[in-house]
Amino acid sequence: MAQKTAITIARGDGIGPAIMEATLKILEAAGAGLNIDEIEIGEAVYKRGVPSGIEDSSWESLDRTKVFLKAPITTPQGGGFKSLNVTVRKTLGLFANVRPCVSYHPFVETGHPNMDLVIIRENEEDLYGGIEYRQSQQVMASLKLISRPGTERIVRYAFEYARANGRQKVTCMSKDNIMKMADGLFHKVFDEIGQEYKDIEQDHMIIDIGTAKVAANPGMFDVVVLPNLYGDIVSDVAAEITGSVGLGGSSNIGADFGMFEAVHGSAPDIAGQGIANPSGLLLGSVMMLVHIGQGDVATKIHNAWKKTIEDGIHTGDIYREGMSKVKVGTDDFTSAVIERLGEVPETLSQENYSAGGKGITLPPLKTIPDEKKERVGVDIGLNFHGSPDALAAQVLPCLTENLELHIISNRGVKVWPDGNPQTFCTDNWRLRFMGKGGEPVKTSEVVELLSRLNRADMNFTNALMLHEFDGQPGFTKAQGE
Ligand code: NAI
Repeated sequence: MAQKTAITIARGDGIGPAIMEATLKILEAAGAGLNIDEIEIGEAVYKRGVPSGIEDSSWESLDRTKVFLKAPITTPQGGGFKSLNVTVRKTLGLFANVRPCVSYHPFVETGHPNMDLVIIRENEEDLYGGIEYRQSQQVMASLKLISRPGTERIVRYAFEYARANGRQKVTCMSKDNIMKMADGLFHKVFDEIGQEYKDIEQDHMIIDIGTAKVAANPGMFDVVVLPNLYGDIVSDVAAEITGSVGLGGSSNIGADFGMFEAVHGSAPDIAGQGIANPSGLLLGSVMMLVHIGQGDVATKIHNAWKKTIEDGIHTGDIYREGMSKVKVGTDDFTSAVIERLGEVPETLSQENYSAGGKGITLPPLKTIPDEKKERVGVDIGLNFHGSPDALAAQVLPCLTENLELHIISNRGVKVWPDGNPQTFCTDNWRLRFMGKGGEPVKTSEVVELLSRLNRADMNFTNALMLHEFDGQPGFTKAQGE
C-alpha cells in the first residue's frame, strides 16, 4: 500500500453516490493510499438554505487536504443559487481545467479513431468574471478580462503538462485578429513562454478555424491551451466527439490544490437504476492519483479500465450490438475493472504514469519591468437620442482648453466626424477626447469636462481614462477611425 494521502470526497447528487462508491471500491482494491474525509455538497445543502451549495465547515476539510474528488451535483433551477463549481474554482484559485479527450476505437463507437488530445482551459478570467453592465436602454456590456499573470500561469502549465506527460505539441487558440489587446496578450504570452520550451512543437490558430479542425480532424492536436470561454466550448466539442461524455474525467488545478471530477453531470434521468457508467469519475481519480504522486496505482487502474473496455464489458451508454460483449450495470462494471487490476490492454495503448512525478509545480511569475504610464485622453460613454452631428453640437461647447473631441463612435464604429450615414446607431455612444497636440491630460481636466457635460445635461454613463504605456497606446481605435 502506498503512503497515505489525505483527500476530501463528496458523493454529490443523482448518479453521484453510485459512481463515487464504484470509484472508491476500485481505488481501494488497487491499493491507493488514501485517508478519506467526506463532505456534503449540492442539492441537500442548497435545500437547507445555503445559496453556495457548500457549508462553511466543509472548507476546513478542503483547506487541510487540498485534494478534492467530487461527484457531480444537481444545480437547482431558479434564481438565488450560486454555481457550486464556480464558487469552488474561484475560492481555491483553480486556474487550470484539464480535460483529456480520447477515443477508444474500435471498442467505443466514434467517427475519430485517432483522437487523443488534452484541452487546458484557463479557468478564472475572460468573460467569466461576470462583470456586466446595462449601458443604456438598448445596450448590455460584458467585460472580458485577460491578465498577463493569469495567461502566463495557464500557458506555462500547458507546456509543463506536455513535458510531464510525454506530449509533443501545444496549440494555442485565440481571436487576436479581432481582440488585438485581450486575445493579443494571450497569444503574445504564449509565444514568449514558448521560447522556454523549445523541445515542444508549438503553434497558434484563430479560434474559429481551430474549433472547426478539432471537430473535423481532432487527431492533429495534442495539447490545446485556450482562454476560458473558448476552452469551455472547445472542450465540450472535443469530449462529445470521443463517443461518450460518460467517459471523460477532468481536473481543476491551482497553485497548491487539485479538484478531480467527471465531465458529465448528475444524470437524474438514470439515478437509482444501477446503470450509470462510473468511468468519468474513475478517470478523474486516475488524474488525482498522478497529482498526489501515486502514479503506479494510477497506471494499474487506468490499464485495468482500458482492458475492461477492450473486453467489451460495457455499461448501457456505450453498449453497441456487435461491438460490445456484455451489457453491465455499475456494480458489475466495477467488479470487472477490479478483476483486471494488474492486466494491461492489448489493442489500446498502455498507460504508464510511474515517471510522472508528483503533480506540476510552476516557477514564480516572471518579473516585468515597470512601464511608463501617461494619460493621453478619456473615453466618455453617454446615452443620447439623435444624430451624431446633433450630439457633437451639444458636446463641443463643453470642451476644456486642452482637450479636443477626437471621435464619436457607436457600437465600436466611428460615426463622427465624417461618419457613414448608413451606420446604424443605438442610444449608447462613446466620445473620445484627446489632449490637444498629443499633450498629456490631467485628471482635473477630465473632472472639469465631466462637470461641464453635467451642466449641459448630457447623460453620461462612464468615463475611462486612456493611457499610453512606454509610448504605446493602451486602447484600440474605433472601426473606421
Ligand atoms: P448530464 O451529463 O448529467 O446528462 C446528460 C445525458 O448523459 C443524460 O442522458 C444522462 O443519462 C447521460 N449520462 C451522463 N453521465 C452518465 C453516466 N456516467 N453514465 C451513463 N449515462 C450518463 O447533463 P444534464 O442532464 O444536462 O445535467 C443534469 C444535472 O447535472 C444538472 O442539474 C446540471 O446542472 C448538473 N451538472 C453538474 C455538473 C457537475 O457537478 N460537475 C456538470 C454538468 C452538469
